[in-house]
Amino acid sequence: MKIGLIVGSLRKESWNRKVAEVAKTLFPDNIQVDFVEIGHIPFYNEDLDGENEIAEYKEIRSAIKDHDGFIFFTPEYNRSFAPAIKNIIDIGSKSSDGNIWSKKPVAVFSATIGGYGGMAGNLALRQNFVNVNIMPMQRPEVYLSNIQDSFDDKGNIFADTKDFIDKAVKAFVKHVELISK
Ligand SMILES: Cc1cc2nc3c(=O)[nH]c(=O)nc-3n(C[C@H](O)[C@H](O)[C@H](O)COP(=O)(O)O)c2cc1C
Repeated sequence: MKIGLIVGSLRKESWNRKVAEVAKTLFPDNIQVDFVEIGHIPFYNEDLDGENEIAEYKEIRSAIKDHDGFIFFTPEYNRSFAPAIKNIIDIGSKSSDGNIWSKKPVAVFSATIGGYGGMAGNLALRQNFVNVNIMPMQRPEVYLSNIQDSFDDKGNIFADTKDFIDKAVKAFVKHVELISK
């Protein structure tokens, strides 16, 4: 099984990336896990596609095909999710092989420094799965609020948050197995 981790926040010190780095360590050893970077992918533009397909669209499309499932780590921006994630959903839906997102198992983890854990953004992202037939893990829902309080001064995550992420990662592995049957 090969799983891709996609972080919607593009800034270096992103809390969502820190959460993703923790999640990466919690997969069983027999599962390959890597980060799929999306910050450099240009906004979807049909003029850059089809016969003119640019290298970045090719790159993200082959990453989508090459993984059995994905976890999206999204911040909440103005009660929605990160636009960089929307961009790659759109690119994957319009490949020359059709919608290559179809039937991909995914999970959405959201983290914010505020008290709602990015719930609005997390749920807004899930709405986009309908038309592209992405298969989200429904539960556990992962909304990490006040995320700055889950790490100590040295950047180590506290055990309770780590345990919660661990349970969600293990549930996601089962979800991928179920969908891929
Ligand atoms: C443009 C913008 C809009 C934001 N809107 C929200 C919001 O609607 N709800 C919220 O809880 N936090 C909001 N925030 C705060 C983010 O949750 C916070 O900056 C978080 O740390 C971003 O995730 P990151 O650390 O992974 O970059 C917003 C931040 C930005 C930059």
